[in-house]
Amino acid sequence: GRRVTVRDIAAAKERHEKWPMLTAYDALTARVFDEAGIPVLLVGDSAAMVVYGYDSTIPVTVDDLLPLTAAVVRGSQRAMVVADLPFGSYQSGVAEALASAARFMKEGGAHAVKLEGGRRVLPQVEALVAAGVPVMGHLGLTPQSVNAFGGYRVQGRGQAGDELMADAKGLEAAGAFAVVLECVPEELAAKVTASLSIPTIGIGGGNQTDAQVLVWQDMAGLTPHTAKFVKKFADLNTVLGDAARAYADEVVGGAFPAAEHTYR
Ligand code: KIV
Ligand code: NA
Repeated sequence: GRRVTVRDIAAAKERHEKWPMLTAYDALTARVFDEAGIPVLLVGDSAAMVVYGYDSTIPVTVDDLLPLTAAVVRGSQRAMVVADLPFGSYQSGVAEALASAARFMKEGGAHAVKLEGGRRVLPQVEALVAAGVPVMGHLGLTPQSVNAFGGYRVQGRGQAGDELMADAKGLEAAGAFAVVLECVPEELAAKVTASLSIPTIGIGGGNQTDAQVLVWQDMAGLTPHTAKFVKKFADLNTVLGDAARAYADEVVGGAFPAAEHTYR
């Protein structure tokens, strides 16, 4: 079958159908999520933390994310694959944004890109859309600005809610096909969702958004410390830890490998 497209995403909003997005960073998990029917996979710059072990998304580069993007595209058949433009790959202007997006599409095989920010990145969004690149926006707690925020905290309370709404409308007018709303009050996320014709994708934005996204390692219980908005749908930390301990015990005790694992 064919891949999910921006047209499918737009049609889902018209039908008031909610949909799930997950991050993916490798071919095996991309295949699992694709076969589970997740329509959109995000190669997030959260790879900085969950793949590369940094403590923020700031250090990760286009070169770091490109092979992960290519792996997710190779591992999936049906999902639309969205690549995050990392910090420093689009802020300086339209030419930089176009060059970065082109690498994700040509070398990574991505079908769309995501970038953080509202009115300050509208020239980039407009230029990408004009070049035929579907763009997903990202507002609220935009982790590439963690140093400006002074930590990971709820965004868009009070006056800041009007600013976020203006940013969301700007992104829509610039041609973005969807916008992530991260760590914002439910009332604001609901208001933005009702005001836009493009879908909103919530993460820590309550359940009134058109879609939801989570970092897969958070969703599956692999990461030890997670935000209030994360639900752990599995306990992979325990499952994998138990498997590693059982393997270690059997190697040390001589039970593994047994006859059935052995060539004669
Ligand atoms: O990098 C990421 O994983 C993201 C999602 C959490 C939206 O941007
Ligand atoms: Na991101």
